[in-house]
Formats: sequence, structure tokens, C-alpha cells
Amino acid sequence: MPHFRTLDDFSAEGKRVLVRLDLNLPLQSGQITDLTRLERSLPTLQELAHQKAKVIILTHLGRPQGVDKSLTLAPIAKALAKAMSPIPVLFCEEPRGPAVQRAIEELQDGQILVLENVRFIEGEEKNDPEFAQEMASWGDLYVDDAFSTSHRAHASTEGITHFLPAYAGRLMEEELKALDHALENPKRPLMAIVGGAKISTKLPLFENLLSKVDMLVVGGAMANTFLAAQGYPIGMSFYEPELLETARSLLKTSDKIFLPQDVVVSQDLNDKGSQRARSLSEIKKDEKIFDIGPLTCHLILDEMKSCHTLLWNGPLGVFETPPFDQGTIKVALGAARLTAEGSLLSVAGGGDTVSALTHAGVITKFTYVSTAGGAFLEWLEGKPLPGVKALMHE
Ligand code: 3PG
Repeated sequence: MPHFRTLDDFSAEGKRVLVRLDLNLPLQSGQITDLTRLERSLPTLQELAHQKAKVIILTHLGRPQGVDKSLTLAPIAKALAKAMSPIPVLFCEEPRGPAVQRAIEELQDGQILVLENVRFIEGEEKNDPEFAQEMASWGDLYVDDAFSTSHRAHASTEGITHFLPAYAGRLMEEELKALDHALENPKRPLMAIVGGAKISTKLPLFENLLSKVDMLVVGGAMANTFLAAQGYPIGMSFYEPELLETARSLLKTSDKIFLPQDVVVSQDLNDKGSQRARSLSEIKKDEKIFDIGPLTCHLILDEMKSCHTLLWNGPLGVFETPPFDQGTIKVALGAARLTAEGSLLSVAGGGDTVSALTHAGVITKFTYVSTAGGAFLEWLEGKPLPGVKALMHE
């Protein structure tokens, strides 16, 4: 694993430490609906505050085009202040300029300052060196604790590292170690589970995973395209006709792909009366596949028993609509059990995956669940992550 410097490699006392976090939390009518990312960011902040650093937080919220007060970080700063209490957390209503300079001058050792949404500045997403340099001038050191934003080469994730010594925060460190154990240096056999709707969005991921894993379990609607490519009747199920050839060639070049052997179908997602398990050859013309079947769950879990590492991205069925959540739940519970027994290291990530595993009640039972959505996918694709690359040293 490439070397990166961490909080262990500097003394923070009295220093102005710029910390890039991902506090891009989900909000509904101004209310935060999930605090996970904030909570997972606390260890770095607590450590720096206890060491009496002056902590300056850079983060974004949403995708504003210029200044957009509906995407102010004020509610996030408030939630952070509550979580960090009694450590003082202040908020600066500007993302740059004299107000920021003044707030930093007034900041005391051991205090935390949240700056307004860094994406209000045009230069952020353009990775403008001038803006990166201006941010760098506010601190003595830079700590990146935002793995989930590391697929963006922005001024606050990449550009700034050209002007300040850069270190990985505790969450970044944890993510990089977990991902390394899951894919780069796993204990084998290594099983990956990939679900979701479309092969088209996950093709690069398939190619990368097939070169690294021992078994690739495919579920979700994307499995339908593979089943159709094999000549099974899939009724009215969603599939991608333009990818039949690609699916055939993937199946021809790799014997690692494991497809559903039976499925749960219904005439309509909301028609629970017509829901039944079917073997592949039995699917009727007016039926749609919404989940993997009981035999498939059993076979996946049986294979999993002999695996030592599991990497999971994407649900196996329409988990949001019971009873089509059963495949995902059964496999997730099995993975959690093997993890608890100590035979399996289980790592999961990606937006839908986290919701699916939360729904299955196993989110705290996996070895590691990444906070990242898009960055997790890009990592699975084997793409270099600019925010991570900027922290690496030979
Ligand atoms: C995320 O929510 O995945 C990160 O905060 C990155 O957000 P972005 O996709 O808007 O860059």
C-alpha cells in the first residue's frame, strides 16, 4: 500500500490546521436526515482540538451554481457544534475573503471554525490554483478526511496540496486501509457482490473486479440482461437490449460470474398477490423479476462460507419494496453472521448499498462500511482518486 502521512506525523498544538471534510449531509426541508458522515468525521476533529490546534473546516454541501443560500452550511455547523460540545464550534458566513481572515485571526487554540460552503466559489470545482493558494494561506497544515469527495480534483481536495503539507485524517486513513484489505491485498477467496439496475453504469467496475476477485455475484435488475443473454425468458423484466452482446462476451471471457439460479417475480411491483419464486425457465411472459430467489440466496451463502473477504456494492433486488427485499436481507444477514464468527472480512459501500444494509439491520455488523458513494464506485473501477493521490508519498 502506498505511504501517506497521518495525524501521527505532526504536532498540531497552536497550528492552524485546515481540515477538508465531507459534510455533504442529506437535508429535507432544512432538517438533516442522516448524521453518519458527520459522526464519522468527529475523531479527527476531537484529536486536533484536544491537541490545541486551531481547526478550520472546509466542506461542501450539494452542487450550488455560485452562492445559493439554500445550501448554506449553517445547519450543518450547528449540528457539528452539538456533536462536539463542549469544544467550541464557530461558523463563518463567508467561504473566502476578509471575513474568513478575521475569523481565523480570532480563532483560539482548541477551537473549530466552519467556513461557508466552499462550492459557492467558482474556483473550487475548477481547481483554480489562485483559490487553492488563498485557502492554503489560511493554514499551516492541510488534513484531508473526505475520502467520499476524493474522486473530485477540486481546489479544496487536490489543488491545496500543492501549497501546504498534506496529511490523511483518521476517517481517510480508516477508509484507505479497509479498501486495501478488501481489494488490493485481500485474504482469499474474495467474493464481490454487485447489484443495481444497469450494467451500462457498472461496466468499468465489472472489468476491474473480474481481474481481482475470485467470484463475482451479480444481482439486481442488471442480472436480467445476463439472463436474457443466456437465452432465458425474462418476461417483462427490465433489461438493457443494447448490452446483450457485452453480457455474452463477459460470460464467455470469465467463469467467475455467478448469476441468479432462481428469481422472485410478480406482474407488477405493487401487486404482492402475484409474487412467487420461479426457476429461470418458468418465468411467464407477463411477469417481471424483482429479486433473487431462495435457492440463489442459499447458493450465495454456501459459497460465502468458504470465502474470507466480501466486497459488496448494490442491492440484489428491489429492497425498497417488501417482499422484494428478502434476497438482499438474507444474504446481508449471512454475511453479518460470518463476519461475527470471524471467518469473513466484509466491506460495503455506495449510496444504495448503505440504505439496503441499513434496511437489513446489518450496517454495524459489517467489518467496514464506507461513507463514500461516487468515490467508492470510482475506486471499484480502479480509477485513480485525485484527492487520495495527492496524499501519497513513495
Ligand atoms: C458525495 O455525496 O458523494 C460527495 O459529497 C461528493 O459529492 P458530489 O458528487 O456532488 O461531488
